Amino acid sequence: MDNPDVESRIVDVFEIRLADIGSVDVAQLLALSIAVQWPHRAEDWQFMRGIGRGVVALDEIGRALGSAMWFPYSDGFAAVGMVITSPRLQALGTGQWLMQRVMAECGGRTLRLNATRAAYRLYRSLDFKRSQTLFQCQGEAIAPDTAAAAAAGLRALTDADLPALIALDASAYGVRRAALMTALLAQSSSLGLFRAGRLVAVALCRRFGRGHVIGPVVASCDSDAIAVVAPHIAAHAGQFLRLDTHRPGGEFRDFLARSGLALFDAVTTMSLRRDATIAVPRIRDRPASYGVVSQAFG
Ligand SMILES: CC(C)(COP(=O)(O)OP(=O)(O)OC[C@H]1O[C@@H](n2cnc3c(N)ncnc32)[C@H](O)[C@@H]1OP(=O)(O)O)[C@@H](O)C(=O)NCCC(=O)NCCS
Repeated sequence: MDNPDVESRIVDVFEIRLADIGSVDVAQLLALSIAVQWPHRAEDWQFMRGIGRGVVALDEIGRALGSAMWFPYSDGFAAVGMVITSPRLQALGTGQWLMQRVMAECGGRTLRLNATRAAYRLYRSLDFKRSQTLFQCQGEAIAPDTAAAAAAGLRALTDADLPALIALDASAYGVRRAALMTALLAQSSSLGLFRAGRLVAVALCRRFGRGHVIGPVVASCDSDAIAVVAPHIAAHAGQFLRLDTHRPGGEFRDFLARSGLALFDAVTTMSLRRDATIAVPRIRDRPASYGVVSQAFG
């Protein structure tokens, strides 16, 4: 600086190294997500580490300055998420470095992720292609009318329903996520819609971030989706509730808006390599996703 009254010195020339995400204290990861104003709790990070793998960028004294995770749902497919660079270090190539490492670890898998506005250019430069918009709906829940909340054939899932949950999720997501569904069922309140003894729609709801999140939600039509989601909304009336959906509009989105879950933000679902499932046009009356598990898990 030219002004002699202003003292300055260079303080941030340091080296960073990559390490396994399992090797750091969860408090470090929490500090990272808080720094980019994400709502995750320590428990949310723990849960993700239980399912996935990943890397952290550490400075010389072991502080976490970046992260990236991947969730290997099958030998051929993984979801990527929790890509964060500490604000002080952004636009210096760390995001690119973390992603290259994750992509190398994922081998030839098809990758799917949800890109924030800040990250879109990064993923484009890595050859990810845009597929859909994911709408983040959240707010203070308002109890829906009782007619919607009392559909016939609705009940909580038990462990015996796990295979049906895994199959229904797979029919909407495109890939079996057995470990994730098993872990989610254990820590969520669940509602399944059964017809002739068959699970035709489902919505799980769990603690996450600022309150609760509903997801996954799978159904074949808007009215079934509303039937499984409405009781969760009623159970959290007056509390913070979130649901991230690919539905661009229609009855389901209107229902969410009436229930206090307003559009808060939108991210872009992107894929690397042929993501057959997401490219298939939705066939009427076939199970489809009405709510993702989270932006990271997809
Ligand atoms: C997105 C994020 C991880 C990028 O990390 P980074 O270390 O800044 O990434 P890089 O320095 O490798 O930059 C990669 C590209 O993104 C661009 N970029 C970085 N930050 C950006 C921003 N805030 N807005 C727009 N573009 C940005 C860079 O200019 C670079 O583009 P280029 O290759 O065309 O020059 C980081 O901004 C971040 O943590 N943001 C908040 C959390 C978030 O949104 N994570 C993404 C989840 S999908």
